[in-house]
Amino acid sequence: MGMVDLVVAGGRLVFPDRVVEGGVAVMGDRIVCVGSDAALPPARRRIDVAGKWIIPGALDVHVHFREPGFSHKETWTTATRAAARGGVTTVFDMPNTNPPTATAEAVREKIAIASAQSLIDFGVYGVVREDNLDQLRPMAEAGAVAFKLYMGSENPLVPCPSDGAILEAFAIIRDLGMRCTVHAENTPILEWRGRKLRAAGRTDAAAHLEQHADIAAVEGTQRALLFSEWTGCPIHLAHENSRFNLPLIAAAKKRGVDVTVEACPHNLLLSTADGERLGPNALRVKPPVREPGHAEPLFAAFASGLIDILSTDHAPHLASEKRRESIWDCAPGFPGVETSMRLMLTEVHEGRITISDYVRAACEAPARAFGLYPRKGALVAGADADIVVIDPERRGVISAAGLSGIDPVTPFEGRETVGMPVLTIARGRIVMQEGEIVGGPDGRSLR
Ligand code: NCD
Ligand code: ZN
Repeated sequence: MGMVDLVVAGGRLVFPDRVVEGGVAVMGDRIVCVGSDAALPPARRRIDVAGKWIIPGALDVHVHFREPGFSHKETWTTATRAAARGGVTTVFDMPNTNPPTATAEAVREKIAIASAQSLIDFGVYGVVREDNLDQLRPMAEAGAVAFKLYMGSENPLVPCPSDGAILEAFAIIRDLGMRCTVHAENTPILEWRGRKLRAAGRTDAAAHLEQHADIAAVEGTQRALLFSEWTGCPIHLAHENSRFNLPLIAAAKKRGVDVTVEACPHNLLLSTADGERLGPNALRVKPPVREPGHAEPLFAAFASGLIDILSTDHAPHLASEKRRESIWDCAPGFPGVETSMRLMLTEVHEGRITISDYVRAACEAPARAFGLYPRKGALVAGADADIVVIDPERRGVISAAGLSGIDPVTPFEGRETVGMPVLTIARGRIVMQEGEIVGGPDGRSLR
């Protein structure tokens, strides 16, 4: 092989099943060689990463980057800077923007907005609504990477369709050969309980959890799995947060249902007990962080691969939108793309998972689930050169003041971490080095 553009050498290559010494060679926007240092070609630029891990850039298939419509909370510029600093090189953006991503035109508009600003490659979700079944195919043709179904929703921009419409949508998505990500809760239960709790004058944080009782999640999950099995539509269960769903998921997978499942760091590492430390309303998210007793079995399911994918549900709001008196007025969600890798590397350091487990859940599995493997999520010749270098010993403390984003509030405030991404390469371009953003927008839409 002749001279290549870039070689990252002298590190430890992390694969889903093993870790080996070596490095990668990059030509243009592709990986051209992965192997021992001796096997790597001469390069115009060589970066030595002794003592560090080399992994594929992480995918995050669940982010809310807020444009169009909510640019005061986040923009594709601020969000993809956060992603690059967090070692994330591919994101899938949720459709609850304004206008919502419910038509082919809206898909094209979002791709244009993101293309102009994004440091990293991205996918755009189309939403499934009662009134847009005739738009599912046009949205796919316009470049949607997958679909999102809000089975539990109080948001009029993305209301929950009827069961009849969901079944028809699943048949269409199956025929398109795509996957549908599902927010699996039962909307009538959420509406009923929300009304009663408000009428009773409840405004405390616990009322949010009482509204989103486990039964709402279990019923939504069971119905999503049943509809998936019945129609043959591949689904992806978003932000798993209830231990009661784990046996349902295990049984469905055993029957051969084409289902993948994600959890976010807040599902795996936090409980309502953390609310007291943060000030109660900072923790509000849909679906909720539950009481103690869920995170440990969810983490065990994640470690075993039953929960196969790590995502974040990155959903930033201004501090003034979150820190409100009544829980009902407090915007749900918080940022995640910048802190997820550090948090999970800390779990690797603690010995709860291996670095290979992390790469499987954050890189390989999401790429496979959404048809991007091995172009994304793999260190292999021919793949896009999305590469992250990790310093496994680097210590830090998470604080909102140190994060990218417009006005972030993080439920991991004050948390100590061990392990940090220190170099992010997106399709062959260095975009982050030692925490500094060094690249400009060149992200492309994936489909
Ligand atoms: C999401 C948001 O803010 O866009 N918030 C959240 O708590 N996950 C909306 C949503 O997915 O419900
Ligand atoms: Zn979400």
